[in-house]
Amino acid sequence: ILDVQDLAGRPVIVGGGIAGLMTALHLAPEPVLLLSRSPLGADASSAWAQGGLAAALGGDDDPELHLADTLAAGDGLCDAEAVRRIVYAAPSAIENLARLGVRFDRTLEGALRLGLEAAHSRRRIVHASGDGSGREVMRGLVAAVRSTPTITVLEGVEARRLAVSDGRIVGVQASSNTGQVLFATGRVVLATGGIGGLFQDSTNPLGSFGQGLALAARAGAFLADMEFIQFHPTALDGPGRPMALVSEAVRGEGAILVDQTGRRFLDGVPGAELAPRDIVARAVWRHLAGGHQVFLDARQKPGPAFARYFPTIASACRAAGIDPALDLIPVRPAQHYHMGGVAVDLAGRTSVPGLWACGEVASTGLHGANRLASNSLTEAIVCPRWVAESVAGSFATAPGTRLAATEGPRPDPGPARLLLSRALGVTRDGEGLKDVAGALLPLAQRNDASSDAAAVGLMIAIAALQRQESRGAHFRTDFPGHAAVDRRPRMTLDAALAAA
Ligand code: SIN
Repeated sequence: ILDVQDLAGRPVIVGGGIAGLMTALHLAPEPVLLLSRSPLGADASSAWAQGGLAAALGGDDDPELHLADTLAAGDGLCDAEAVRRIVYAAPSAIENLARLGVRFDRTLEGALRLGLEAAHSRRRIVHASGDGSGREVMRGLVAAVRSTPTITVLEGVEARRLAVSDGRIVGVQASSNTGQVLFATGRVVLATGGIGGLFQDSTNPLGSFGQGLALAARAGAFLADMEFIQFHPTALDGPGRPMALVSEAVRGEGAILVDQTGRRFLDGVPGAELAPRDIVARAVWRHLAGGHQVFLDARQKPGPAFARYFPTIASACRAAGIDPALDLIPVRPAQHYHMGGVAVDLAGRTSVPGLWACGEVASTGLHGANRLASNSLTEAIVCPRWVAESVAGSFATAPGTRLAATEGPRPDPGPARLLLSRALGVTRDGEGLKDVAGALLPLAQRNDASSDAAAVGLMIAIAALQRQESRGAHFRTDFPGHAAVDRRPRMTLDAALAAA
């Protein structure tokens, strides 16, 4: 039976990555409880981010150019107003991070060193420790959170269900190795990250398999853009799982993609290696499917500077017996980011009163059908200010709740992972999607924690089935054309169950 802790109106943040930590810091000095599944920084995909944060900071740059590049990559599905507000807020959010103690890479003169990534028309990627950007941002934020007395962090505590009464949030049911507890609160922010654990080949920690999406969906929230899953074209091809990322910044510094014959097979594609990520991922996928091997050739550029620019990647390559300055790097696409998520406005408000979402779990409309590189960390540092303002402005105590529960089964992403990896890769087709939806339906209907991954998988499969076109990261071999109308429908779990 559940132990109930009344938080006396204190909000709860679920998730200890960049978006969750930033929201907690922006809420200070209002007291807040932050729940993290693992010790802070240990398991958040934020810490694995190599590419950095996109912002129009260069002398030749302008937020209007950043806006245009984001809209072009998003293939007609970005929310232009959301993009505008985020790209204009990005430069000052980065300055704020520097003030919080994050040490970005700088030139000898002290200016921020700006890198180039695919589909950006200017150098505008701010990095830290070369390719260790996420790790350094997390280090700075964890230190800031630990020294903020109004933020209480509970580590090793996993949210399992949202308690809802009369259509609004009244608490979070959470589990730890000491048992279950219901935190009674009328304000919950989800910042739980993405869905890497739903795929066999992913560049993300496998412990993130859409738990926040399931929490929101089971509470009745609308989700959006679920079919848009970004595959990174260059994960290090080897036996290790999750797969090590070979950052797009390596191509930004001049590395090229070749096959086993040495042919540069992206030659004819506009933008070549720096075309939008969905285009490069599909080209690599098709070349592999045609029986070729694909390699990144960094021997000329960045050449001998590789290990200095990209120490994390160099060490992953060395562990695989590869010296990137001398050898070709074998690569293949792997799941990397989820554009879809809980449908929110720019203040992070979901369709369920008392529930907010930010970071990868949320869908603000910034990314559209295909996220522009390094816009996700930018979103994760920009939006929490607006989320915190909204949370602070809507004080709500939890009406008394009488939820009773006992320890249920643990979440199990295994069956969903197998099915999604098969049917929801770089390309999809109707037959495969119908099969996966049919197989996930009985699991998703179980309505306990063990079936949460299946419920999320089902929503992805149904959204992919209903989008009868190819757009951005969603490529249907049976509908290869782009629809004339730009649609961004939202979906509840009940609607997905009914459609399956
Ligand atoms: C990369 O470094 O290639 C990834 C950057 C990103 O996903 O934003």
